[in-house]
Amino acid sequence: MTGWIIPPPKNPTKTKEQFGIERAEKVQQLIRKGYLKSKRIKEALLKVPREDFIPDNYSDYAYLEVPLPLPGEKATISCPHSYPLFYEPLGLDQDHRFLEIGLGSGYGTALAREIVGSEGLVIAIEIDPSTFEFAARNLRNAGYTDILLIRGDGGLGYPRLAPYDRICLTAACPEIPPPLVEQLRTGGRLIAPVIEGKTQNLVLLKKSEEGVRTETLCEVLYVFLRGRYGKDEGAF
Ligand SMILES: C[S@@+](CC[C@H](N)C(=O)[O-])C[C@H]1O[C@@H](n2cnc3c(N)ncnc32)[C@H](O)[C@@H]1O
Repeated sequence: MTGWIIPPPKNPTKTKEQFGIERAEKVQQLIRKGYLKSKRIKEALLKVPREDFIPDNYSDYAYLEVPLPLPGEKATISCPHSYPLFYEPLGLDQDHRFLEIGLGSGYGTALAREIVGSEGLVIAIEIDPSTFEFAARNLRNAGYTDILLIRGDGGLGYPRLAPYDRICLTAACPEIPPPLVEQLRTGGRLIAPVIEGKTQNLVLLKKSEEGVRTETLCEVLYVFLRGRYGKDEGAF
């Protein structure tokens, strides 16, 4: 897999109406390409304005299939298809207690908040202070005040509110951090990009009474996880 080609920064020109049309077209494209199946994930993608989670000088590219730079060290908003790519196999659904590692722009967090609904719980952890501030501001401006945002090393999880029904890592790790597996409920699922040699694979982990089973879904390319269970050198 090669790196991404990021378009150059430019002043924003698009109207809310144009973004609305692009958003609806993107959802149809994700359905056609087989990424998007669940009604709740589809409704969330139609509702959350992705352009409001992107720095102004990249917001015109909101619905292009590229990751875009965010404030912070190597932080990016992932490309649009990556949300159903992660959330569909995760089976993220109504009422789930959801832990996200790697808040980034806050866009995936906002989608999760819509998907789990008012009886669910969303907790998101970000290690980079500038990225954290950017995401917190985006979420506040978009009206998402009922998400627990934590600045710190997400590899350690957040034991205080464990166990979680679903856990999602949005940064690539050499191994799935053991504290996260511990904090996953029996019957729960975790999804993460895992580094294997020069490649990264999207891995789905299922925890049951019999133990833990993992399944490799596809090749992906994400920034590296930092912190205790991370890897030093980042990548796109
Ligand atoms: C690909 S970006 C996340 C994109 C995000 N899903 C979005 O919608 O914008 C990965 C994020 O993980 C963060 N990160 C890396 N290591 C981390 C760690 N140990 N704990 C928490 N966040 C971490 C990075 O700073 C970056 O913001």
